[in-house]
Amino acid sequence: MKYFLVVVCATLLSSSFGANLPPAFIKCYRKQPDFQECLTKAVENAIRQMNHPFRRVGLLNLESLVIPELTIAAGARVISALQIFKNMTLSGFNETKCAKVEFNFDNNTLKLDCIVPHFRLDFHYELHGQIFLVSVYGNGAGWAVLQDSHFEVSYQLGEYENKGKTYFNIINQQLSVQPRDIDFDLKNLFDGDEEAADRFKKMLKENALEVYGDVKSGYDEAFGIIFATIFDRLLTKVPVSKLFG
Ligand SMILES: *[C@@H]1O[C@H](CO)[C@@H](O)[C@H](O)[C@H]1NC(C)=O
Ligand SMILES: *[C@@H]1O[C@H](CO)[C@@H](O)[C@H](O)[C@H]1NC(C)=O
Ligand SMILES: *[C@@H]1O[C@H](CO)[C@@H](O)[C@H](O)[C@H]1NC(C)=O
Repeated sequence: MKYFLVVVCATLLSSSFGANLPPAFIKCYRKQPDFQECLTKAVENAIRQMNHPFRRVGLLNLESLVIPELTIAAGARVISALQIFKNMTLSGFNETKCAKVEFNFDNNTLKLDCIVPHFRLDFHYELHGQIFLVSVYGNGAGWAVLQDSHFEVSYQLGEYENKGKTYFNIINQQLSVQPRDIDFDLKNLFDGDEEAADRFKKMLKENALEVYGDVKSGYDEAFGIIFATIFDRLLTKVPVSKLFG
């Protein structure tokens, strides 16, 4: 009970005064002449540090984030298979490099252009259907590394007032992940028929980018929602005046 009260008080305090950004984050002032360059460094630096949560500002860890269940619909051309993932762990964000992060104060849009050199997914998969008209089924452990993944993200932000302070919220988001290459493994394809599995994986590796392209929009949408949800939690806690000084 005591713990509960303490938590409630802490929540009330942070919502009435508005939290500061964590001291470990780089702060950029909107009037500084190199604001956009500063923001690019600050966002890159913050993403790289998200291998642990920043609870005070509502940020979950991005590194080793677990998505309990993710279902990606069949593609339009080459994949007519539903892909079901369980316990998908995302990693590799500690090596993120951002080329450009832009905040436009006229219309409150934020754009990120970053590379994650080894965007890794570890998961349990279920696959049943056809890829390039070849029947495929399997159910087991798997991983994928999306090499040099180019993340292009844009957020349209809205503003609202809470207890005399202005906060942002996300009213629209778009995300695109385009890897340069994909390495992967799927265990227990074809009920453990190794020969059939190797043949299929070889075919899939040779055509990985084309196959990915067919279902990319499903992944973009899913990752877009997940990252926006994480970012929105920070925006709920930290008022605009404390984001940009
Ligand atoms: C996913 O993780 C949960 C919690 O650790 C576990 O109970 C469940 O069996 C896992 N599911 C699969 C398919 O690995
Ligand atoms: C990122 O994390 C991976 C896995 O924990 C580690 O091998 C790598 O050295 C880290 N890279 C940086 C730049 O910290
Ligand atoms: C915001 O303004 C920028 C620069 O003028 C423009 O490129 C962008 O399309 C605008 N975004 C929206 C959602 O209006």
